[in-house]
Amino acid sequence: MSNPISLDQQTVIRQIDPQLHVFAQPFNRFAPFGWRHFCKVGIRMTAVVLNEDKDILLLYPIPLVPSIAEKLRSIGNVKYIHADLGHYMSVGDYVTEYPKATLICPPGLMEKLNRKGIKFTSAFQHADNLDPPERFLEGLDSLETRVLRGFITYPTAWYHKPSRTLIQSDLMMNMPCDEQYSRTGESTERGPITRTFNQKANPYNIWHKIMIWYAAGFQVKTMREDAIHISKWNFERVIPSHGDLMMNGGTDAWKELYRWYIDSTQGHSSFWERALLFSRRIFLG
Ligand SMILES: [Fe+2]
Repeated sequence: MSNPISLDQQTVIRQIDPQLHVFAQPFNRFAPFGWRHFCKVGIRMTAVVLNEDKDILLLYPIPLVPSIAEKLRSIGNVKYIHADLGHYMSVGDYVTEYPKATLICPPGLMEKLNRKGIKFTSAFQHADNLDPPERFLEGLDSLETRVLRGFITYPTAWYHKPSRTLIQSDLMMNMPCDEQYSRTGESTERGPITRTFNQKANPYNIWHKIMIWYAAGFQVKTMREDAIHISKWNFERVIPSHGDLMMNGGTDAWKELYRWYIDSTQGHSSFWERALLFSRRIFLG
């Protein structure tokens, strides 16, 4: 049964820094056979105000509801939109609303969106760490990025330097997702799958570490390089797409979650690497 409270009413909007606004909504995931209400994980979008002209970078779009559109209008002009292979489903809402925005995305995603009839007038495909968007696109000086080349959804880690904040999609969950369900009238303790996932999917639980090691990173060598690089940013806060905000201790949490990669001396078996690489092709399909 669907929730009688509208998605607009369930959306939580919060300013956490002069330049950072977060937008949270409920979201169910890992649903077999289209069973939507399987595991509550929540979703979150971040708006970064880039400069005094109030240009905005939107990271990981979520369904555009009137309260989000109104808030964005009040804080500035959407200039860039970033999505990855795991967080692109709501991009179409924003192309219609902000037709002049530039899409920043990993290789293959723009073609996938085009096949769905979603067309940007301008796009920057962010393939590796030699051509980061902050070097080539105007106004991104407050950010530093790192592409996780060996992670199946081809995600990018965004470091907002003035606030020492890491913004990312699926690289680190921080369950429970209480804020994302705070206006739904639903509990993240209800249901065995949701309850278990909300207890275990956080960076200090070995279950999350196992998931990142076995199900997400297919190239251990590049994962190691990228995890070490990110650990040197020395961020305090983490804004995850799934789970609650982490307001301090972010770098320690990152080092713990990625410790197996950071300390790794050998990779996965070639069979497992190929299996995970195949998963990325499914995401691009
Ligand atoms: Fe995700």
